[in-house]
Amino acid sequence: MIERIKELTKEVESFSPKESSEIEAFRIQYLGRKGFIQELFKEFKLLNPELKSSVGKPLNELKQLITNKIEYFQHHLKESRSDDKYNDMDLSLEGPSIKPGSRHPVSIVKNQIVDIFSRIGFTQSTGPEIVDDWHNFTALNFPLDHPAKDMQDTFFIQRNPDFVLRTHTSSIQVQEMQRHKPPIRTISLGRVYRNETISYKSHVQFHQIEGLYIEKNVSFADLKQLLYYFVQQFFGEHFDVRFRPSYFPFTEPSAEMDIRPKNGDKRWMEILGCGMVDPNVLKNCGIDHEMYTGYAFGMGIERMAMLKYDIQDIRILYENDIRFLEQFISER
Ligand code: PHE
Repeated sequence: MIERIKELTKEVESFSPKESSEIEAFRIQYLGRKGFIQELFKEFKLLNPELKSSVGKPLNELKQLITNKIEYFQHHLKESRSDDKYNDMDLSLEGPSIKPGSRHPVSIVKNQIVDIFSRIGFTQSTGPEIVDDWHNFTALNFPLDHPAKDMQDTFFIQRNPDFVLRTHTSSIQVQEMQRHKPPIRTISLGRVYRNETISYKSHVQFHQIEGLYIEKNVSFADLKQLLYYFVQQFFGEHFDVRFRPSYFPFTEPSAEMDIRPKNGDKRWMEILGCGMVDPNVLKNCGIDHEMYTGYAFGMGIERMAMLKYDIQDIRILYENDIRFLEQFISER
């Protein structure tokens, strides 16, 4: 029996499993109910007391050895398996850098403009993109069927041509004048649509910001001062500004504002339209035009972005070209 114990001890010592299923088979073979150890203990019972005392110790040692082996490999196999997985991984290495997204230049410029005007008390207003003819044209002093409507080539809703995709955010201003009593000081912003040929400088959809201020004794001088402030905040100090007489059905007098870099490029660039709100418009929107006057101005956000960031083609703003958009990561 001693021989058998020695033999088994050798076997157990050389046992080195590669998978956990081998450990389980080993456990059953040695410690199971019909395993080697049970068999040995059965034999052991039959031994005479003398032999018992010399076999008992090595037999118990063998049993302990088996238990230890099993425990060791149960633990160690798990570890070495996870070692394999992470073997060629250096956890102290820096991970790949995650590129932060960037805001779209149209959003950046919109936020900048909104900031500038909200600092001096303008609220923000928005409205629907599909509006009736009245909000887009009639209330704004476009005579019915007057060719002035052609100034802004319009998308009409086919099912009901009384409704249009708004051609300017002035439709929001009409809504604001109907809803609120003066003083009104708001900038209206959103997407607008015009049925134009797409080219480097125009698109069928773009964004506008329009301002409206209505109060007693508002004058054209107030409008000019406001716009000087705006240009200086948005473009910086180094621009000359001029007003050019113009025409809009909803303002009288009307003007367009141009800017030009103080040195270098001598070209004037048009940036916005503006004027004193026509008394007819105030009347149409239920505001006492004898008591109140107001000014309005409007600009295209894409156009402002193009001027500020020297973008030559409006279409690139809608192409989602990562190489273009990535350049704005550092902008707010
Ligand atoms: N609504 C005009 C446009 O879309 C811009 C404008 C607004 C002009 C307010 C004057 C006053 O062209």
